Amino acid sequence: NTYALILAGGSGTRFWPLSRNDKPKQLLDLFGNGTLLEQTIDRLEGMVPMENILILTNALQVDAVRKIASKLPAENVYAEPAKRDTAPAVALGIGLIAARNPDAVMMVLPADQLIKDRNAYQAVMTDALNVAEKSDGLVTIGIRPTWPCPSYGYIERGDRASIPGLTCEHPPFEVSRFREKPNPELAEQFLNAGGFSWNAGMFVWSLPTVIKQLASHSPELARFVSELRASSDLDATVSAQFPKLTPISIDYALMETADRVLNIEATFDWDDVGSWVSIAKYLSDSGSNNRTNQPISQIDSENNIVFNATDGTHIALLGVDDLIVVKTGDSILIANRHQADAIKKLSDLLPQHL
Ligand code: GDD
Ligand code: MG
Repeated sequence: NTYALILAGGSGTRFWPLSRNDKPKQLLDLFGNGTLLEQTIDRLEGMVPMENILILTNALQVDAVRKIASKLPAENVYAEPAKRDTAPAVALGIGLIAARNPDAVMMVLPADQLIKDRNAYQAVMTDALNVAEKSDGLVTIGIRPTWPCPSYGYIERGDRASIPGLTCEHPPFEVSRFREKPNPELAEQFLNAGGFSWNAGMFVWSLPTVIKQLASHSPELARFVSELRASSDLDATVSAQFPKLTPISIDYALMETADRVLNIEATFDWDDVGSWVSIAKYLSDSGSNNRTNQPISQIDSENNIVFNATDGTHIALLGVDDLIVVKTGDSILIANRHQADAIKKLSDLLPQHL
């Protein structure tokens, strides 16, 4: 009765010009070892049967997602009729899984993270599934924070959770506070205080638990789930009701207010690969701290990130530092690496087809 719901409908503009509206981060093969979505599916092998993995995305990306998710039955890849952020998507997933098994224990997984140690990942997630099955908690996975990043959720750990009948290797803790995307000052306070983890963006719960929590904390989503469960024509209900839902992320809609949130610390590597700068460390070092995915020529240049997504074009650097240079079939990006976070702002200025 184990299910996984993979959320793969986010729009990635931070990896322009490699990412496009119909090709966000999770559909990119950044490191030559498959797309992040493909890796997310493969990481579940042996833990969740392929027919119990559901993927939610949108109309723009659904064809690409089906191609990547070819190990799953085609009907397990579902396109939302409108973009409503992660809470409505999770509610839809809950409804779809409840139609198959109302007592399921499910994981909600982002599709756009880099995790390499599959064994450690499966060990942690297996314990999380066990905790979710034996408790009335919403289980989160915690990542040890390294800096006051304002674009993550923060989890404050309380006492060791006492869960009757549980034996597991990774002990669960009660969460005394879940705070989504604090401002940098508050994030800094959390880090100084200690006892906080980043939220990995993965959630594990049993359907009865999450449905009860939605009823108390998000009546709109609880109603939507009930409508799905009562529906004899799921597609029609989704087309009619989903676009009416308020856009909000699951972190705000449920996790900040839920009655009981539990946490297990991740013992695996985890990277949310949020920008060109964050992938630099996975590229080859071509000397002088230049990071590249293909050989380049360089003189007197340091600290650059060069990503060439084309064959038959060569990139050479002379006397330039701290640049991001990206070449695709139709575009070239030349950016200051200290402004990598602003690349998404470029997307408003670009010609329509890019
Ligand atoms: N199906 C679907 N529909 N998927 C979506 C949608 C949507 O409307 N919006 C986003 N997603 C997918 C993204 O593709 C990604 O895989 C996942 O849902 C998480 O969404 P993000 O938009 O990337 O969330 P975030 O990174 O800002 O924040 C979340 O993840 C952080 C860790 O990476 C939160 O859970 C934070 O608390 C957490 O720290
Ligand atoms: Mg993200």
